[in-house]
Amino acid sequence: MSRLLDRLQGEIHALDAQSLRRRRQIAETACAPEQVLTLAGAAAPRTMLGFSSNDYLGFAAHPALAKAWAEGAALYGTGSGGSHLILGHSRAHAQLEERLAEWMAPFIPEAQSLFFCTGYMANLAVLSALGGAEAVIFSEALNHASLIDGARLAKARVERYPHCDVAALDAQLAACDAPVKLIVSDAVFSMDGHIAPVAELLALAERHDAWLVIDDAHGFGVLGANGRGVLEAMDLRSERLVLIGTLGKAAGVSGAFVAAHRTVVDYLVQRARPYIFTTAAPPAVAHALLASLALIEGEEGVERRSRLRERIAQLRRGLTAVLPTDGSAWLPESPTAIQPLIVGDNARASGCAMVRIALSASHGEADVARLVDALGDALAQPWKEAA
Ligand SMILES: Cc1ncc(COP(=O)(O)O)c(C=O)c1O
Repeated sequence: MSRLLDRLQGEIHALDAQSLRRRRQIAETACAPEQVLTLAGAAAPRTMLGFSSNDYLGFAAHPALAKAWAEGAALYGTGSGGSHLILGHSRAHAQLEERLAEWMAPFIPEAQSLFFCTGYMANLAVLSALGGAEAVIFSEALNHASLIDGARLAKARVERYPHCDVAALDAQLAACDAPVKLIVSDAVFSMDGHIAPVAELLALAERHDAWLVIDDAHGFGVLGANGRGVLEAMDLRSERLVLIGTLGKAAGVSGAFVAAHRTVVDYLVQRARPYIFTTAAPPAVAHALLASLALIEGEEGVERRSRLRERIAQLRRGLTAVLPTDGSAWLPESPTAIQPLIVGDNARASGCAMVRIALSASHGEADVARLVDALGDALAQPWKEAA
């Protein structure tokens, strides 16, 4: 065997030994609470009740979106045919960007939006394009991997600030005399679900002549009366905001957008390599997303957000009642669909010491009750039996 294969094999064995090896399961049916899955190594598929999707509003298999997708494919074909700057930018993409700009106009003066194939690419694009050599990026310690990778790709110096520590960030900004300062944070932290102090971060941006880049991947569609995300929920408005929303989670389709002052968006079109050097997503995706935005802001969206809030409250009540009294497991504060249960043993949590529970409006009351019962039973087992 070559040395490279030896090294790769060694790392995989080491992951196995720590119960940290990731394995994929195959979804045989559409995303839904009850889904038919073939687990890694299993001979046959099983129907399972799932709590790990990002389909917070239950739109991923919504018939109206499947219909819009098919309509989009009939109108524009299946492939975009090129990158946005060559000929891949369809009428559907343009309409989606206009609609998203209207959605964000109350929060960002002169807002425009730019559609990306994925949130990962949107984050790489924003940070690599805006974080030039003269800039400093202030990156929240628990930021998503895509923001970390975006900061790595940027020429800017990167300073991490401690998780949600506004005072520490204030001091770091005060000590920095770079002409461009970018504060970068998840809005809803993707692992533990709690919400960043976005209003305080924005106040710091205003005070220190900095900009605030907010990744609202887990807030868009879910937070705010109309589902417009964290800026709506907190009633914030500033021209110093750059917002990234993803469209493959609550919106139930795929892709992402950046909303910012039109000059920022113009600049991204000129300079953001992950925007320029890739084939545009199929126009049918954008066409389906227009239907998704209508669902999010319509009655169905309002009703699903309210149902999701009920499930979150039910889960937290239920789990609090079954947590062991010896403190060996606990449920940190989280007001969102992402609920972290800390158990402190890798094998028991299948790969990390946190069981990350993701709720959806499509979960019924009985589904959440089943989960609480199952977790209550598991938590009552001695460690070695569970491992
Ligand atoms: C906070 C955050 N940002 C960005 C992304 C990437 O978005 P996408 O899945 O659209 O690439 C994710 C998850 O996937 C995320 O959790």
